[in-house]
Amino acid sequence: MGNSLHSLSQLHTFGLAVAAPHIVEFNDISQILQHQCTQSACIILGEGSNTVFTEDFFGEVWVNKLSGITFSEDNAHHYIAVASGENWHNLVANCVERGIAGLENLALIPGTVGAAPIQNIGAYGVEVGQFITCVEFIDLETKTTQQISGVECTFGYRDSIFKHALKDKVFITKVTFTIPKNVAKVTSYGELASLSQPSIRDIYEKVIQIRQQKLPDPKQIGNAGSFFKNPVISISEFKAIQDRYPKMPFYQVSEERVKVPAGWLIDTLGFKGQIVDGIQCHPQQALVLTNKAQGTGTALIAFARQIIADVAMEFGITLEHEVQLLGRLERITL
Ligand code: FAD
Ligand code: EPU
Repeated sequence: MGNSLHSLSQLHTFGLAVAAPHIVEFNDISQILQHQCTQSACIILGEGSNTVFTEDFFGEVWVNKLSGITFSEDNAHHYIAVASGENWHNLVANCVERGIAGLENLALIPGTVGAAPIQNIGAYGVEVGQFITCVEFIDLETKTTQQISGVECTFGYRDSIFKHALKDKVFITKVTFTIPKNVAKVTSYGELASLSQPSIRDIYEKVIQIRQQKLPDPKQIGNAGSFFKNPVISISEFKAIQDRYPKMPFYQVSEERVKVPAGWLIDTLGFKGQIVDGIQCHPQQALVLTNKAQGTGTALIAFARQIIADVAMEFGITLEHEVQLLGRLERITL
């Protein structure tokens, strides 16, 4: 693609005005197998909804356009094999249309199917990992196609093997979902509890409605969803904070551990709605930072670091960013 720079603003939903010299689109697996990377770095991109390019990226950007969905079933299960470049929400809508239950709580999550297992996307009481039985990928070093089972993916909260042993080592090409036909509907989370005997479509529509109220539409205001993960802390740490803040919401994840909403911590410190150098802490959901007024990567990093420092000072909790941040040639952390 020559030496000129190509804009990345449409390729990541945060929409910062940055660029890269090499953008390569892959439409089928043979192209990936044959491709020789000419740069010292490369990054795989789906729809860029969990990725922020904080400055110009001087490597190759590989954009995943693999497509195709196959539905099959037996008496007890639906089996859905999906090429990794397919849009996640279209898959959910397709399932609801066909009367296949299971994925409706995950409606309207942006991004590709191939990125879904990486952070084990989750919302409204459901995580995708529970339905994934196989992930197919190309090992980028050996250029061989391999498969691992859902169990081998070691899914956790916003976590999987693709953030650890396989990080930046594989190109996910296909994800297979196995959904029991008798899967229970999940309506325990927040406002879904107000639904009485809902159909799959009722849940799907309610999730869309809640999300549209709280979360900024990336087509209108650049953002990458939750900027931080919800911290999981020990009971003793939790009790110490609860003594000072009895109204703090929480979710007990085990006998020993409690998850607290980072959005509440950030909101309590008064960041919600604040704009610093074009970056805003979203007025309806403090966990989301937005590119409100032509912000820059430098401004975003400074604002995020301020939030981390203030939350640590007041609550003794170190927030971790959920979004994937990229610098000139590699991933960066705050
Ligand atoms: P990208 O941002 O393109 O990539 C994400 C990471 O995966 C990058 O590190 C990339 O290198 C890697 N990657 C992508 N594709 C591949 C591949 N084929 N092989 C190997 N590596 C790959 N997430 C939730 O879990 N729950 C939510 O409720 C939620 N809500 C959101 C709301 C909004 C408004 C936005 C903007 C984001 C939200 N997210 C949510 C985050 C995001 O939607 C998910 O992380 C999604 O899975 C990202 O998909 P993507 O294709 O855009 O990934
Ligand atoms: N809260 C506040 N103030 C805020 C935001 C939240 O007090 O500004 C409180 C809420 O009142 C509620 C609690 O925090 O008591 C949780 O809020 P919410 O239900 O909005 O969910 P969240 O924990 O902030 C998580 C995910 C979202 C996912 C929703 C729904 C993470 C990091 N985020 O947000 O995922 O859609 O739950 O399940 O786990 C994403 O990953 O990008 C994302 C949007």
